[in-house]
Amino acid sequence: MPNPDIEKAVAILRSGGLVAFPTETVYGLGADASNPDAVKKIFAAKGRPQNHPLIVHLADASHLAHWVRDIPMAAHRLGERFWPGPLTLILHRAENVPDVLTGSQDTVGLRVPGHPVAHALLQAFGSGIAAPSANRFGRISPTTAEHVRAELGARVDMVLDGGSCDIGIESTIVDLSGSQPAVLRPGKISAAEIEEVLGEPLVRPGPSSARAPGMLAVHYAPQTPLHVVSGKVLAETAYRLSAPGKRAAVLAYHHAPIADARIAWFAAPSQEAGYARELYANLRRLDQSGCDVILVEQVPEEWDAVRDRLTKAAVSKEGF
Ligand code: TXA
Ligand code: MG
Repeated sequence: MPNPDIEKAVAILRSGGLVAFPTETVYGLGADASNPDAVKKIFAAKGRPQNHPLIVHLADASHLAHWVRDIPMAAHRLGERFWPGPLTLILHRAENVPDVLTGSQDTVGLRVPGHPVAHALLQAFGSGIAAPSANRFGRISPTTAEHVRAELGARVDMVLDGGSCDIGIESTIVDLSGSQPAVLRPGKISAAEIEEVLGEPLVRPGPSSARAPGMLAVHYAPQTPLHVVSGKVLAETAYRLSAPGKRAAVLAYHHAPIADARIAWFAAPSQEAGYARELYANLRRLDQSGCDVILVEQVPEEWDAVRDRLTKAAVSKEGF
């Protein structure tokens, strides 16, 4: 059945415009990946440096051959197991791939998203859609259509509203372009799950891995200074920092709330999937609470994708 919103979005993409759309991870800011002028608009709208490559979204894995030369067996295996889903593969790019997409690197990032609206858009468009997260550069990724409008306003021609993103943090990125596979960004799909499919261990990103300039140490950051604090000292740190005349905003996942007017206490879900789903909306709430400092209770070691995002959101790397 034709969907007027999807048809309008496709028309905008074909004419070189920008359409934000939901995926199961975060909202993306999309443009026709084959149109260099359209892709340039993404960088301008985000304020993103030109050398940060973009992910190309595909309706299904059959489109890979258009974007990639020599598709390795590992890509077929991972695609079969995890696509559509929150996995991005870095592969050697085909010759026709525009330089502006890849930051002139020899590789391209590809993903088949699982969200029904993203899928409908990609199918109707019939080709690759380049899309980074639909936030201003260095800011928190959007997980609702309202977040996108707040971030980008009139810089985007249309926002497809698909409700809140289910996973809430960006895809796992696996680099298959080097001599050994490496995870460049942790996500919901864990390194162990990937190793199981590949039948070989992943390596830490090294000199032969693809460069991922988006993986800056400070990223996904609220404007209020954020510190990650062990649960043991969370309450006392909140008290110490909220005096005199200052307020602390706290995000705790298992620590009991403190009833104190100087402290804005936010409770996060205690399970990893729920915590991740609400993480960016919670960071926005903390940032908008008018407090002088944000304290986030340290989460368990095993939540490696969430920990990665919290570390990148924090101003101090050693804890507090
Ligand atoms: O879940 C996601 O991956 C979301 C949704 C919208 O699909 N997209 C997303 O895109 O997070 P972005 O641009 O915000 O983050 C993509 C990261 C960047 O850090 C970029 O440097 C890296 O992927 N990347 C893209 N292409 C690459 C390449 N060819 N080599 C190395 N890193 C690459
Ligand atoms: Mg991003």
